[in-house]
Amino acid sequence: MRSQEWFGGSDKTGFFHRSGLKAMGIPERMFDGRPVIGICNTWSQLAPCNAHLRDLAEYVARGVYEAGGLPLEFPVTSLGETLMRPSTMLYRNLASMDVEETIRANPLDGVVLLAGCDKTTPAVLMGAASVDLPTILLSGGPTLTGRRNGVPLPSGTGTYTMYDDVRAGTMSSAEFVAAEACMWRSNGSCNTMGTASTMASLVETLGMALTGNGAIPAVDARRRTLAHDTGVRAVSLVHEQLAMSQILTREAFENAIRVNAAIGGSTNAVIHLLALAGRAEVPLELADFDALAAGVPLLVDLVPSGKYLMEDFFDAGGVPVVLNALGDLLHRDTLTVTGRTLGENVTGLTGWGSPVIRTLDEPLKKDAGIAVLRGNLAPGGAIIKPSAATESLLVHRGQAVVFEDIDDLRTRIDDPALDVSADSVLVLKGAGPRGYPGMPEMGNLPIPAKLLRAGVTDMVRISDARMSGTAFGTVVLHVVPESAAGGPLAVVRSGDWIELDVPARRLHLDIPDSELASRLAALGTPKLPSPGGYTELFQQHVTQADTGADLDFLRGRRGPEVARAGH
Ligand code: FES
Repeated sequence: MRSQEWFGGSDKTGFFHRSGLKAMGIPERMFDGRPVIGICNTWSQLAPCNAHLRDLAEYVARGVYEAGGLPLEFPVTSLGETLMRPSTMLYRNLASMDVEETIRANPLDGVVLLAGCDKTTPAVLMGAASVDLPTILLSGGPTLTGRRNGVPLPSGTGTYTMYDDVRAGTMSSAEFVAAEACMWRSNGSCNTMGTASTMASLVETLGMALTGNGAIPAVDARRRTLAHDTGVRAVSLVHEQLAMSQILTREAFENAIRVNAAIGGSTNAVIHLLALAGRAEVPLELADFDALAAGVPLLVDLVPSGKYLMEDFFDAGGVPVVLNALGDLLHRDTLTVTGRTLGENVTGLTGWGSPVIRTLDEPLKKDAGIAVLRGNLAPGGAIIKPSAATESLLVHRGQAVVFEDIDDLRTRIDDPALDVSADSVLVLKGAGPRGYPGMPEMGNLPIPAKLLRAGVTDMVRISDARMSGTAFGTVVLHVVPESAAGGPLAVVRSGDWIELDVPARRLHLDIPDSELASRLAALGTPKLPSPGGYTELFQQHVTQADTGADLDFLRGRRGPEVARAGH
């Protein structure tokens, strides 16, 4: 056992290591060479979606003890989507560094990762992948279905639609505030197929979690049982020496991309899977998301691409039913943390015919997934989620209405004098990884209030930002290079014509090449401020969205090698 490098010695170093833990009441026999399992916990009251992970950690520990291991729980940086400013994405890589360094520096043989809210899942996976110990993840699970006046309230998505109602004058501010307490009925992550539920489902698909992880509600007793079983399995993973790198293969990522399409998963999955693949040293490119999901239909009828919520998805059988419904579209022989293949895990789990999960013969939409766009406006690519867009806008030509940054957007978007129509293309600059910094979820720019009042519900919007997994609309995101890196997005002017052609995968700024070249030459290389601290480190090293917006020096595996003792 790796932990015996700490606990196996009879010198003063071994004394230090053991005696510190004995101060917590751990008996001598626990240092006999049994697997030490770290429970890496993103619990935090600053991340309300993860506030129940302390409770779940107890059940994981029970499982570890049952299987003959020693559980040691430790906190890592948590990232609360509802509270952090300027953007949780700014801190995903920082949290991953915390996870990586804490795991490597301590006497751990295996790890259970506890995550929930959007960025916490990729952060812990990325950090752990760079260490590559036997590792298993347990998600916190989604919150129960919230209701207001008898109507289900989708987390995130409901906020956007109700706020549009407020801006359009059809909902009062008092009603809006009253809805706050209705949306999250319990602990847990968003009840929609937002980024948290997407990532929890993809973790199960990748093989990094036990079967059922994706959908069991946070407060359902079966989530606790899953936690207990996760602890048991973590000990076995160590005995079997089944490291993350044996599970995170190219085929596992291909499965995740296809399942993301079938569940109507978040656009954020693109950036997180690319970053995770970078850590796991698996070749994966932006183009793979389009190519691999081609022909995968939308099977899951969940908000924001459909109408149901995560509790309904769980009741329908959850991820295993989707995996079976996809049949041969998936690699069924990928190895998982259960020690069995993905196909073996879900044998017989075909559900009861709920309308929430469709079949390949009767999908919700024929083509799902992520379309990767290219053109002179996004030479390095951009993405759009057609299942969450308005079909009639997928081929569109309109004149740009440009916002130089988010402050400009907030100042002018509802100005009655704004020169905008339903056919305009809203363009936001300065919201990429480097420029914002931290690539906020502002890509679904609000529809101008005067158009909302006129009944407009969707417009083409383009930016270098991300979009919440709970958001929707004809929204082009993750434009590469971002404007702050001198990409063509930086030189778009209001009044320019822009052509979006999703079937042709094209995003074109309709100005002469010579005009584009001269505008870019005049722009030069944009200078960034030097705020110091972590933000400056981030701005200097963050990669573009097409490689996952990781820090360049964090990509790859650095392994679990034990460092020399410091005393
Ligand atoms: Fe935490 Fe949606 S805000 S999962």
